[in-house]
Amino acid sequence: MLEKIKLYASEINEAVATDQEEIESFRLKFIGKNNVINDLFEEFKLVPKELKKELGLELNKLKNQAQFKLKELSDSLSSTPSTAEMDVTLPGISGTEGSIHPISQTKSRIIEIFERQGFNVESGPEIDNDWNNFTALNFPKNHPARNMQDTYFVEREPDVLLRTHTSNVQIRLMSERKPPIRSIMPGRVYRNEVISARAHCFFHQVEGLAVGKNISFSDLKNTLYHFSKEMFGKSTQIRFRPSYFPFTEPSAEMDIRCFICGGVGCKICKHTGWVEIAGSGMVDPNVFENCKIDPSKYSGFAFGMGIERITMLKHQIDDLRLFSENDIRFLKQF
Ligand code: DAH
Repeated sequence: MLEKIKLYASEINEAVATDQEEIESFRLKFIGKNNVINDLFEEFKLVPKELKKELGLELNKLKNQAQFKLKELSDSLSSTPSTAEMDVTLPGISGTEGSIHPISQTKSRIIEIFERQGFNVESGPEIDNDWNNFTALNFPKNHPARNMQDTYFVEREPDVLLRTHTSNVQIRLMSERKPPIRSIMPGRVYRNEVISARAHCFFHQVEGLAVGKNISFSDLKNTLYHFSKEMFGKSTQIRFRPSYFPFTEPSAEMDIRCFICGGVGCKICKHTGWVEIAGSGMVDPNVFENCKIDPSKYSGFAFGMGIERITMLKHQIDDLRLFSENDIRFLKQF
């Protein structure tokens, strides 16, 4: 009897099943109603007493082994569909890949272009004081220009606020360092605006500043001209329009020829043929003095541009809110 038990044990051990039918025949043989192990239990009744203990143990082991094996066989079959049931031509399931946010992409591109012109990258705090954000930039107290940039105040006394532009970093740089300075300062800024397709309570800017001896308006023009050609294409045309900023004198706004319509006029350029890209100008002597730089020795230019604005133009996006909604369907396109 022990011989038979061993034989069945190795048969069970080696059993494999490639389909349901084979599993069923295994089940019928070792577990079903008239299974071979039951036959052995019948024989067991006739076994002499002194062998009962040993054989009983072996028989129970065999029964358990058969049950365990049956489960193993059916598990393996359900996890590996046979090639007959499997469509090997189906494309695999690939993992989803993240992408870099369009604002970050534009920011990196802007940095790359200015770095090649010798600018380094600096940063400053988003929470700053009135001096760095306004007063040192030649915005006198109660000056109407302050109303152009609706401010979020963190504390009124002393003045702690969320910076309304990246120009605060200009002041910090010029106060802390000696010229020559040639830096760009990308970052997030905040304004108390009603959120709409065209305005948001936060957005991103890149500030530029060059201070040294004999820096002139033509340096500013060439720097921005080179930037525009790199950013928008070799044939990009630019123009400067006189403007006003408290911290620059003279001030100018830079436009590029609308690259959507080629200057003929379209929705994007509001039928003017030009789109505004940056504010700029020569650093006002008052600003130099506020930062303890001698305006009779040094001159400099500054500019500021909106990263959202450039991204919207490049990709023809017409709603600012898309940048902060984190809608995967929007972000996946970049
Ligand atoms: N700070 C200005 C703004 O947020 C942009 C700007 C204009 C920055 C002229 C400059 C500049 O550095 O020279 O509207």
